[in-house]
Amino acid sequence: MARANAAYYATHDPFADFTTAPEITQMFGELIGAWAAVTWALMGAPVPLILAEAGPGRATLMRDVLRATARVAPDFRAACHVHFIETSPRLRAVQAEAVPGAAWHDSLDDLPAGPAILLANEFLDALPIRQFVRRGAGWMERFVAEGRFVEQPAHVEREAPEGSVVEVNDAASAWIIRLASRLVGQGGAALILDYGTLESLPGDSLQALRCGRPADPLRDIGSADLTAHVDFAAVGRQASACGAAVWGPVTQGDFLDRLGLRHRAASLARANPQRAAEFAAAMDRLAAPARMGTLFKVVCLAHPALPAPPGFAA
Ligand SMILES: C[S@@+](CC[C@H](N)C(=O)[O-])C[C@H]1O[C@@H](n2cnc3c(N)ncnc32)[C@H](O)[C@@H]1O
Repeated sequence: MARANAAYYATHDPFADFTTAPEITQMFGELIGAWAAVTWALMGAPVPLILAEAGPGRATLMRDVLRATARVAPDFRAACHVHFIETSPRLRAVQAEAVPGAAWHDSLDDLPAGPAILLANEFLDALPIRQFVRRGAGWMERFVAEGRFVEQPAHVEREAPEGSVVEVNDAASAWIIRLASRLVGQGGAALILDYGTLESLPGDSLQALRCGRPADPLRDIGSADLTAHVDFAAVGRQASACGAAVWGPVTQGDFLDRLGLRHRAASLARANPQRAAEFAAAMDRLAAPARMGTLFKVVCLAHPALPAPPGFAA
């Protein structure tokens, strides 16, 4: 899965196969910009601030964050040094057009030291999972060999009905542990948004998307985006074990609502009455339960001294 996605992101325009929240509407980046500016103030307004994003795609989210905050939070904007964690050279070139002056890194470990706000929208879902299948009294691990699924006996400490599939994302766990340790040691907060579950539930969530439609994950490997649902309960457990504060997870619908999505849509509609239907449709797509509002979750990992960040207070 890691090699397939590396090949896919290096050679394809992923946005021909799917869209993401920042690509749907400017409101997503504007609200997250406001979130970042308030969180920076809660951190004590450190200068400089490392404003990092993992897997920025076309960098539309960061572009909107910077544009919106330049007007309403100029001190925050002036403090920001933008850093992207991106492995695809093709997407780095697109990001350089959107956000000139950013710095690029292959890995979280390469970010400079210091207080940081890190954003990650639809990043963890691209990291490679392992799958275990309940067979009889034991478990088998499902691998890919010569283009097809094969199974080998494995050891899993868990009971489940016959045929159940359990997914483990070692790459995501290792990443969360490094991120949480950094936030505890150097200060800051990370906002992670993705599709996934609030609890660690069994289920086969491996999915390939080609041209906006589900596809066979083993056909033309490297030509489709492979993803799996993020286990937000595991993310929270791993970050807490490192001493980080964990805010949420909450649904994307609730989070954006608390940040003022309705007010932003109404204000944009007042200023651009001919586009009112477009803003209403985008708001519905991001926040309605049957659209992205419930499937997508949001969690904030932070230094333990940080007060409740916006969108997570009771
Ligand atoms: C689904 S796209 C998300 C794009 C963007 N965040 C958005 O909301 O539009 C996944 C992004 O993560 C990057 N990516 C995937 N695996 C990565 C890895 N292991 N390390 C760094 N970036 C990675 C891809 O190149 C791409 O930019």
